[in-house]
Amino acid sequence: MLSACGVKDPQADVVAGKKLFVQKCGACHTLGRAGTKGTTGPNLDEAFQESLKGGFGRTAVRGVIYKQILFPNRLPSADGVKMPAKLVDGDNAHDVAAYVASVSAVGGKDTGLLATAVQAAGGGTATEKNGVISIPADPNGQLAYADAKAIGQPGPVTVEMPNKSGVGHDIVIDGLGKGQVVTEGTSSFKADLAAGQKYTYYCSVPGHRQAGMQGTLTVK
Ligand code: HEC
Repeated sequence: MLSACGVKDPQADVVAGKKLFVQKCGACHTLGRAGTKGTTGPNLDEAFQESLKGGFGRTAVRGVIYKQILFPNRLPSADGVKMPAKLVDGDNAHDVAAYVASVSAVGGKDTGLLATAVQAAGGGTATEKNGVISIPADPNGQLAYADAKAIGQPGPVTVEMPNKSGVGHDIVIDGLGKGQVVTEGTSSFKADLAAGQKYTYYCSVPGHRQAGMQGTLTVK
C-alpha cells in the first residue's frame, strides 16, 4: 500500500476508504452507498451529479475530493460548521477519495467486500444492569446507537451513552433527562422510570435523530 516512489496508487483500497469515510465523514455527509446520513455538509451523491453528467470523469471527481479533504473550502455550513482539514491524510485520504468518487450518485447498494466493510448499527438491545442502562453510540461513527432497543425496570436508573466514535453525541429522553454532548467519553443522566412506560431516547445534536439516532426504552 505504501509507495516509496511517490507515484499515486490508482488501485486505492476502497474498502479501507469506506470504513474511514463512515467514521470520519459520514456524520456530516450523506452518501447513499455508505449508508451515511449526515446533513451538516453537502450531500455527496448530489454534489457531483451535474459534473458527472457533463462528462467530468470519476478520476477527476476523485481529485476534487482528495483536494477538499486536505484543503477544505472553509465556507461554513448553514449551522456555521466548517469542514476540518486532513481528517484523513496520506494513503488514507486517497482511499477515502477513491471510494467516494466511485460510489457518488451511483445508487443501489455496495456489494462484495464493500458490503460488509461496515456493520450496520442498531441491532442490539441494552438491558438495565445494577441500575444502569448503557446504550453506546455506534463506535464506527454511524448516526445510530449500537442498541435501538433498551429494557429497564421501574424506579431510579442511570441512562448512559459511552461514545468512542469521535463524533459528538448525547442521549436525551424528553421529560426525563438529558446527558451532555461528548465526543469521547460517556454522556449520562439519572431518571426515574415509570412501570409499563415506553420512552424514546435520541441524540439532540442537529440532524442526528433524523438520521436514525434514536431508540425505544421499554420499562417492565
Ligand atoms: C464537521 C462536518 C464535516 C466533516 C466531518 C466532513 N465534512 Fe466535508 N464538508 C463539510 C462542509 C460544511 C462542507 C461545505 C463547505 C466546504 O466546501 O468546505 C463540506 C464540503 C465537502 C465536499 C465538497 C462538496 C461540494 O459540494 O463540492 C466534499 C467532497 C467533502 N466535504 C468531503 C468530505 C470527506 C471525504 C470527509 C471526511 C474525510 C468530510 N467531508 C468530512 C462538513 C464536513
